[in-house]
Amino acid sequence: MNRKDFIKTCSIACIGLTGLVGFQGCSSTNYFAKTIYDGEKLTVKKSEFLIADNAKKSERKFVLIKSESLRFPIIIYKLSDIEYTALLIQCTHNGCELQPQGSYLTCPCHGSEFTNKGVVLNPPAETNLKSYKTTTDHENIYVHL
Ligand code: FES
Repeated sequence: MNRKDFIKTCSIACIGLTGLVGFQGCSSTNYFAKTIYDGEKLTVKKSEFLIADNAKKSERKFVLIKSESLRFPIIIYKLSDIEYTALLIQCTHNGCELQPQGSYLTCPCHGSEFTNKGVVLNPPAETNLKSYKTTTDHENIYVHL
């Protein structure tokens, strides 16, 4: 293989790997919902949980939201049509940002795990996550800060 063919082969491999990594990244990207903040609560439309994918309808298990007043995002889990939990995704052990893993959260720093209701599943964290009161109406979820 001459130098030109070697560079061409390496370039094609790099593009392929980049595409593969990019694809994996897209599939694991968490969805940030739009919110409205009125000074006391964040409003999130229930429709933010819907996924419209080529006429198939499905729902997200959770969405993330941000507030300028908080250093970490809040995760909202849908437990039923009228029941949601809103949790600050800051680990109660040493303050790392948690990663959603389906219906539970894991800490990349030392491995603590929490349920979708914020309860400690695995140490070293000993304290449950900070949670926020949620209320709903037919259209919206309200997270009371
Ligand atoms: S900061 Fe999360 S387990 Fe230590």
